[in-house]
Amino acid sequence: MTPIQFALIIALASLLAWIPFALIGARGRKAGGATGGQLEALPVSDVTDVGRRKFLLRGVGFASLAFLGQFALASIDFLYPRLRGGFGSKIDVGSAEDLRAELGSREPKFIPDGRFYLTLYEGDPAEAADIPAYKAANVDVSGFMALYRKCVHLGCSVPWCAPAKWFECPCHGSKYSVNGEYRDGPAPRSLDQFRVEVVDGQLIVDTATIIAGAPRGTVTTQPQPEGAHCVTA
Ligand code: FES
Repeated sequence: MTPIQFALIIALASLLAWIPFALIGARGRKAGGATGGQLEALPVSDVTDVGRRKFLLRGVGFASLAFLGQFALASIDFLYPRLRGGFGSKIDVGSAEDLRAELGSREPKFIPDGRFYLTLYEGDPAEAADIPAYKAANVDVSGFMALYRKCVHLGCSVPWCAPAKWFECPCHGSKYSVNGEYRDGPAPRSLDQFRVEVVDGQLIVDTATIIAGAPRGTVTTQPQPEGAHCVTA
């Protein structure tokens, strides 16, 4: 089900929930019209009961509608994070030239809004063009990689291990090179990625689509760590 279909269903459910109250109200108005002339003859307590019932029904109706409306808005807000420009949207990370100078060699930068590490791709661009995951992420053209922080084993956040210059997951010990390539542990593949493009000099990372990481055995750089591991399990 697409987000648009889901939002439409919520809106429809809100309208349908209102129908019983609308019908009760209409019936009440009809009855009131038919006996309007007799109403004055009713005892005061009966008239008060009718007024109270109407008031309660309308109150319940408005409360239900308000609740469903809030639920629908919250659902749309949840399903469309791209409206806020955070994770799930295209993120402008900054000037590509500045970032290229800032990142240097094997010093990833974590981008909290996008939940990814930005790194410079190490390796031959021609080789990257032959790896489907890298091609999909535009690594061969942009020269950057946006690596999703979420471990592809069971989803823990993977920190950067400065001594080894690898990403090392503290949960079950999966390890990945600076290019996010699988090196060790139970992870089934390399770190997932996002597509990176340079538009008018700005680095744009599209976090709306997660690109599955390259398969195990992909080695474009750094087959061994540079120093001690942070996770030894
Ligand atoms: S969640 Fe990272 S190794 Fe298991």
